[in-house]
Amino acid sequence: MKILVTGGTGYIGSHTVVELQAKGFEVVIVDNLSNSSSDIVEKISEISGIIPKLEIFDLTNKDLVADFFSRNNDIVGIIHFAAYKAVGESVNKPLLYYRNNIESLINVMEGMQTNGIENIVFSSSCTVYGQPDVLPVNEQAPIKIAESPYGNTKQISEEIIQDTVKSSNINAIALRYFNPIGAHETALIGELPLGVPNNLMPFITQTAIGIRKCLSVFGDDYPTPDGTAIRDYIHVVDLAKAHVIAIDRMISKNMKDDLEIFNLGTGNGYSVLEVINSFERVSGLKLNYQIVGRREGDIIQVWADPTYSNEELGWKAEMGIDEMTNSAWNWEQFLSKKK
Ligand code: UFG
Repeated sequence: MKILVTGGTGYIGSHTVVELQAKGFEVVIVDNLSNSSSDIVEKISEISGIIPKLEIFDLTNKDLVADFFSRNNDIVGIIHFAAYKAVGESVNKPLLYYRNNIESLINVMEGMQTNGIENIVFSSSCTVYGQPDVLPVNEQAPIKIAESPYGNTKQISEEIIQDTVKSSNINAIALRYFNPIGAHETALIGELPLGVPNNLMPFITQTAIGIRKCLSVFGDDYPTPDGTAIRDYIHVVDLAKAHVIAIDRMISKNMKDDLEIFNLGTGNGYSVLEVINSFERVSGLKLNYQIVGRREGDIIQVWADPTYSNEELGWKAEMGIDEMTNSAWNWEQFLSKKK
């Protein structure tokens, strides 16, 4: 069964392609390589033994999308990762984010309608909950006004999907990710941030390897046990596996509604200092960090209630924080050896 994975050479996409192949799905990737490299398909094949098909074009190009679908009308499902994802950049370049993230979704869904493709899994984010009033946060929690254009593209995309499933044969599952970190156990694929990382985990590993001098911990005066902000970090391989279960659920017609929404988190919150402690424990290194002021736009704390995903998808995040930080560190060391 052929699955289209948009953004399949990216961080979460590449891990998902590996898990899809392990379950016997045929994968075709569409990616414009704006934040990734075509070498990833070889790394994927080193893990799985299968080179996934890769077509390099931009999903905002309607004609190219239509042409792609006309040549691939045997696709049974789509996992749509392709999107820009840098929160800070989206604040400075909102139109870039709206055009890219929204237009590509519309083109993909039009292609589905034209070609009778019924199943789409969409990459959403816990950012839609903002700072939740109740923790842990479940899927019924209200959607808060988005903190950034990036977050808004996730909210708008969920709305576009909701309206489209009502008026068509399309079924959708939106997966709301918490904070994916870590890398594949082979250290052949992982996160490849361009330039200075915005996110905590790559900043930690780049500091430890010597690319960055010092990690800034943004704020230690939050109303949390150690004063630093809390997130629900989830291993990217656990996250990837949930996508395979979701697409399988759609193809097997086991959905309870034509749009389903699931939280993908572990249910455990870790503070920034706890993540640093875990990293120091697994690497045996002392990390150079300093406490600085809060980062604008950061929420205090969020972690998932994954009960609905656990029960309905039969999926549970398996890996703990030390496995996450250890795999991220192995990946960073692999990257430094390549240079
Ligand atoms: N942090 C630091 N120093 C850094 C980087 C991050 O202290 O150099 C802290 C942040 O302040 C935050 C925590 O580490 O408390 C996690 O920060 P990340 O940037 O790794 O992750 P965020 O929770 O800010 O963002 C993530 C995704 C977004 C998504 C958002 C939703 O990267 O795509 O969750 O909440 F929108």
